[in-house]
Amino acid sequence: MLPMYRGWQRYVFITALTFLLIYFMLLYRQGTIAPNDITLSPSKFDHATTKERNHPIDHLIKEARLSFKQLLGKHSTNLEQAAQRYRERRGRHPPPGFDQWFKAAKKKNAIVIEEFFDRIDHDISPFWAIDAQDLRVQAHAQPQVIRVRKGKVSFETDDDKRPPWIQLWTALVKEMMPHLPDLDMVVNVMDETRLLVPWEKINGYVAKERTMRKLIDPDVAISEYSGLAGVDNWKKTFEPKWIQSSSNKYWDHLRAACPPDSPARDITSLDSFNGPIEYPEGHMPYMYKGFVQNFTASQDACLQPHLRGMHGTFIESVSMSTLHDLLPMFGGSKLPQNNEILIPGAMYLTSDEFYSGGNSHGSSWASKKNALIWRGAASGGRNKADNWWHFHRHRFVQMMNGTTVKAVEAGDESRGPSFKMLPPEMYSILDRQKGKLGEWLNTFSDVGFNILECFPRVPSGKGYQKTCEYTDPFMEVQKKMPMKKQYSYKYLPDVDGNSFSGRWRGFLRSTSMPLKATIYTEWHDDRIFPWIHFVPFDSSYMDIYGIMDYFLDGHDEEAEWIAEEGRRWAEAVYRREDMMLYVWRLLLEYARVTDDNRERLAFVEDLR
Ligand SMILES: *[C@@H]1O[C@H](CO)[C@@H](O)[C@H](O)[C@H]1NC(C)=O
Ligand SMILES: *[C@@H]1O[C@H](CO)[C@@H](O)[C@H](O)[C@H]1NC(C)=O
Repeated sequence: MLPMYRGWQRYVFITALTFLLIYFMLLYRQGTIAPNDITLSPSKFDHATTKERNHPIDHLIKEARLSFKQLLGKHSTNLEQAAQRYRERRGRHPPPGFDQWFKAAKKKNAIVIEEFFDRIDHDISPFWAIDAQDLRVQAHAQPQVIRVRKGKVSFETDDDKRPPWIQLWTALVKEMMPHLPDLDMVVNVMDETRLLVPWEKINGYVAKERTMRKLIDPDVAISEYSGLAGVDNWKKTFEPKWIQSSSNKYWDHLRAACPPDSPARDITSLDSFNGPIEYPEGHMPYMYKGFVQNFTASQDACLQPHLRGMHGTFIESVSMSTLHDLLPMFGGSKLPQNNEILIPGAMYLTSDEFYSGGNSHGSSWASKKNALIWRGAASGGRNKADNWWHFHRHRFVQMMNGTTVKAVEAGDESRGPSFKMLPPEMYSILDRQKGKLGEWLNTFSDVGFNILECFPRVPSGKGYQKTCEYTDPFMEVQKKMPMKKQYSYKYLPDVDGNSFSGRWRGFLRSTSMPLKATIYTEWHDDRIFPWIHFVPFDSSYMDIYGIMDYFLDGHDEEAEWIAEEGRRWAEAVYRREDMMLYVWRLLLEYARVTDDNRERLAFVEDLR
């Protein structure tokens, strides 16, 4: 290549190349955290006295930093340590292939902390109560499945016209080859989550699994998976009893999966949504002085009966196909009560900028607008003239609209049917006390739909109308804004859509501060920490004003710190490699639980 260039051209070329190389090296260094260098950036929280900082959010950040630091100390640097931590935490030996997995993790500079994999244990454990052969039959016969045979991966689907989720997941599994045993991996290709086994039944499965958990004598351990030879000639079929109904009311299925003593268990779904919303009274038990302290609990609808009328999932989903039996099915998100096995959402695996935000992660904090931005579709379910104000996204758009809030503050509640104004003493926000919340919102909040997704849809030209007659008096369509443009705002809130929100990874990796409210759990929940890597808020959204009041009123530095800490951490534990490694470990665990020899399959080489 070089001979093409002569004299000064060659000189310029080499200089440019050198600079480019240095630039990329710097970029790489800045963006990653080496596993032997995992630290938390210092912040003034570490040396401030409580007197100077006595806002509840100061307390929550401080507390989160403390427990996060403790966790960082637990990372495994060698195979023996990793296997030992596995045994201590799981009460079993790791599955065969654990050594290859750990080697790959080391090679990819992954931070291995056993706690990051708690979700795998949680999702897989009920399946120990089902006969392994039954699980293989069930998985083999489903229409959407990724198959691993003799180190080769392929997929089957009965619907090629869907978004390419199964293709994206298949590509990820390919990266683990040739280290996986034969398996059939059934995937959920719907937006909505599927399996809801009633509490009594699942509790019985989990209890049974506990009795099976033991550290077997290494002498009886075996390391070869049985494989699926012969399975492909099976004539056995299995038809799950999917429940579909036109009303798509998910609440009653959910509450049967709630513990008998939980607040939601005996609260039935609403007969009609054509009435005012029920708003939670007072702060929720998982809050600290009005702000989310236990993010896991805040995701749990069993603790929040009001959500039956405040989240699209429970109002009317776009489609519903649910099952009250256990079925080995993988999916990108679920309610805490759903029984799918979690893998990273396919949107996190695409390079489509709509979800990934592209390669740019935003400019410096100082150059950003001191404002909050949200754009999206009115998804979340099938919104209609007689129920739209019960949908969560509609509520978020109304609550962040200064004009709407101003009207409600002035006493016209009919202008904001999707929310209620909380008494001023619940959050001490000066503008609220002065009746100027709406005006204050107008100074920083830019939240709006880019399509209203009405039902029934109204044809217009070659497509459909973007707005709906029934919401026209309350909201209007805003122009779309690509994710990278949104990165020029300091604050990026994220709320659920039909299920989880596929833009979350992009937000975490950005230089802006992400905020999150959700009732959906995801694969990453054990490795991304509220109040350190993002700011959590409640799915009622009652705390959003208090949160923004804190950050905008003298705590810009804290916001910048969370934005930066989240970005650095996502570059360390939320890379494509990390998603691959998570699924690899999960699939070893899955191959074991579906194997007739599951109680003897174990990695014990380090003990010999
Ligand atoms: C948070 O809530 C979850 C779910 O309700 C619970 O299991 C967990 O123990 C809680 N964590 C703390 C630290 O209280
Ligand atoms: C904000 O509310 C006003 C009044 O309710 C409405 O006219 C306007 O369209 C809303 N803005 C957006 C972005 O939805």
